[in-house]
Amino acid sequence: MRSHFRCIECGATYRLDDARYVCDCGELLEVVTDLASFGRSAEKWQARWEHRRHEVAFLRYKDVLLPDLPDERVVTLNEGDTPLCEADERVRAYCGVGTLWLKHEGLNPTLSFKDRGMVAGVSWAAHVGAARVICASTGDTSASMAAYAARAGIPAAVLLPRGKVSDEQLSQAISFGARVLEVETDFDGCMRIVQDLARRASVYLLNSMNSVRIEGQKAIGIETLHQLGWRVPDYFVVPVGNAGNISALGKGLRELKELGLIDRLPRLVGAQSERANPLYRSFVNDFAPLEPVEAQTTVASAMQIGRPVSFKKAVRELKASDGLVEQVSEAEIMDARAVVDQSGIAICPNSATAVAAVRKLAVAGAIERDARVVVMLTGHGAKFSESARRYHADPTATYANRPTVVEADVEAVARALDFD
Ligand code: F0G
Repeated sequence: MRSHFRCIECGATYRLDDARYVCDCGELLEVVTDLASFGRSAEKWQARWEHRRHEVAFLRYKDVLLPDLPDERVVTLNEGDTPLCEADERVRAYCGVGTLWLKHEGLNPTLSFKDRGMVAGVSWAAHVGAARVICASTGDTSASMAAYAARAGIPAAVLLPRGKVSDEQLSQAISFGARVLEVETDFDGCMRIVQDLARRASVYLLNSMNSVRIEGQKAIGIETLHQLGWRVPDYFVVPVGNAGNISALGKGLRELKELGLIDRLPRLVGAQSERANPLYRSFVNDFAPLEPVEAQTTVASAMQIGRPVSFKKAVRELKASDGLVEQVSEAEIMDARAVVDQSGIAICPNSATAVAAVRKLAVAGAIERDARVVVMLTGHGAKFSESARRYHADPTATYANRPTVVEADVEAVARALDFD
């Protein structure tokens, strides 16, 4: 096999087909792939990927994601190849940077970036013969896992913190046929339970502590660089909850650099809500060890996490890229969402956290105004309609677009529209 698991702390190694998530010492594992064994130059890699542009993204990049998975075992819903949109004038002015791209991962099959990891995770689960799969979730991992498990024909169970995920997210997991448990706790409580369960029962865990799933998520950064013609942006900004995404992004970009496809790393920027900010708190204390917080209710509900499982991996990637972490308020999140929505690009509050962080960092001078910035939009706005309706109904909201109720009469409608 080309890949194996390695402990991020003690370096112990394990076989990749060993269904495990942590080392015997208790620390997280990562997947290490012998990329040099392909014997390809940077030009060869580029030519190969260019040639395979018409293929599903996961298959195109599979050699650097999960080479030991046979092509015919891939369980795909045609995820990936998401648009890299240039932000319009108004969004750029709002953020205070001249060059801004929005990588819209909300346009994946289940409307979030999680599909990039699930194509890897669920395919591998099927490959190693997992009888069932499970995850804890704030709503998007569960939707994605449920869809891919349905596609693979593997029974799925999801644990959701009761009342803390949107109706749209909840109905996704239900509709895809997963066993849905609404647990009377928060996400961190659900996470503790699935970890215990995975130790006791024969069930395959598909949270981001599963480092095979994380390998699939590397495709987002690789594909973005491919779309940019391998010209490295100065900053790559991502919202952070459980910290799997930023870890995967950093790992994938480091590997591109090792292969010689890029000559430097973009600086990673993690964005958090002020109400669930353990990574930010560590960052402002010179990356002090994790002090879990009790996450408060936030509009960025997918990131309402106080004890991020991949904290150590995230810190490693932030240090490797000379990265930054910023926190933003509820109003900053919802204003940023409205501004991007009003440019015709539907984003969710979680993604808006990253947009708001760019603005805050640019105002503070921490991101230069002439910097080239990529923001990863992690989810689609349609999954979070309630917070949008609430914002636009609020007379004090800066960018509110309030609907008007009008009687069914042409004169009344014309008056409401200010027609003569
Ligand atoms: N954005 C969205 C839309 C998410 O669903 C999540 C995480 C994040 C950002 C944060 O990413 O956890 O990798 O740092 N959602 C998980 C879930 C926790 O269960 O759906 P992260």
